[in-house]
Amino acid sequence: MPTERIQPGKDLEPGLHEQIPHFGWMVFGFIALVIAGLTFYLTRHSYEHVAAHDGYLGPGKCKECHPKQHESWAKTRMASSFGVLRPGEKAQEKQLAGLDPAADYTHDTACIPCHTTGYGLVGGFVSIEQTPDMAGVTCESCHGPGGSYVGTVMALDKPEFQTVEARKSGLVYPPTEAVCRVCHNSRSPFVGADYKFDFAERVRLGTHEHFKLKYEHGR
Ligand code: HEC
Ligand code: HEC
Ligand code: HEC
Ligand code: HEC
Repeated sequence: MPTERIQPGKDLEPGLHEQIPHFGWMVFGFIALVIAGLTFYLTRHSYEHVAAHDGYLGPGKCKECHPKQHESWAKTRMASSFGVLRPGEKAQEKQLAGLDPAADYTHDTACIPCHTTGYGLVGGFVSIEQTPDMAGVTCESCHGPGGSYVGTVMALDKPEFQTVEARKSGLVYPPTEAVCRVCHNSRSPFVGADYKFDFAERVRLGTHEHFKLKYEHGR
């Protein structure tokens, strides 16, 4: 009996021949499946990447995980800085700046870039009707478009991520004076050419209240 088993030349070879095409199809099927799966995964991945990368998400997204910063930010002048473009708002200030207090500046492209978030960029402000969440100076004006880091580097399942990694991905942290200077400069009709922007004082004056983070993240 055992000798029959270890002598395949006689009994087993025909059987083996029969199985080769079977086995071949299985390998082929397996490779095809792997390729199909990989193609699906990669295209899906790159689609998400293209859709999310550089995109602005709006302060509602940040609020999901940072409710305290959101609550505090919502009370700042920057949060409501779109409102000052409406007719009748800040009438005296507008008059002094040589603007018409009765005019509606909410669709004026000479004003919008500094009084909204991500104007002209993916996911950014388009108009108050289409993108009301992007009105005003929101989180992403200072921290960069969330699509590039939220849910990837910055996620609840790895809250101990490194700042340097998040920054590579697009997070702006900590925001430097240059970030503020994009808007806080003498192109604003309300400030003269002699405009001085005291960064430390302005941060202290309140962008939002700062809360101690649970993790260090490095810098
Ligand atoms: C899914 C949850 C989640 C969302 C949404 C989210 N964050 Fe975070 N974020 C975190 C976590 C977790 C930390 C680390 C918290 C800690 O250490 O206590 C963090 C930390 C930060 C930090 C500090 C970074 C550092 O390196 O120390 C900033 C700034 C920040 N988030 C900004 C934002 C902004 C702006 C948005 C919206 C565009 C946002 N986050 C959306 C989860 C999130
Ligand atoms: C280059 C960016 C920029 C542009 C362009 C801009 N603003 Fe502003 N605006 C600012 C900044 C920054 C402030 C806050 C100034 C400060 O407190 O230092 C401000 C403040 C204001 C205020 C409040 C003034 C006060 O004293 O309370 C009004 C109203 C205003 N802007 C309306 C407008 C209108 C209307 C336009 C278009 C005609 C415009 N802004 C264009 C950046 C800009
Ligand atoms: C996208 C444009 C934009 C950016 C970026 C920006 N600001 Fe502002 N900021 C404004 C506008 C517009 C106002 C005026 C809001 C109003 O008066 O309605 C303002 C107002 C302020 C105020 C309130 C003024 C006061 O005296 O009470 C402070 C403080 C401030 N900014 C600090 C900063 C700092 C610090 C940074 C950078 C970390 C920064 N801003 C980045 C547009 C911007
Ligand atoms: C005008 C600019 C500006 C805006 C708008 C802004 N931040 Fe910040 N944020 C800062 C600055 C400046 C720091 C402090 C950086 C440092 O520690 O040097 C900071 C720090 C943080 C931190 C770290 C923890 C803390 O409390 O200091 C988180 C988280 C954060 N911001 C989330 C948000 C979220 C969420 C929003 C919107 C709801 C927002 N920020 C809007 C400028 C801004």
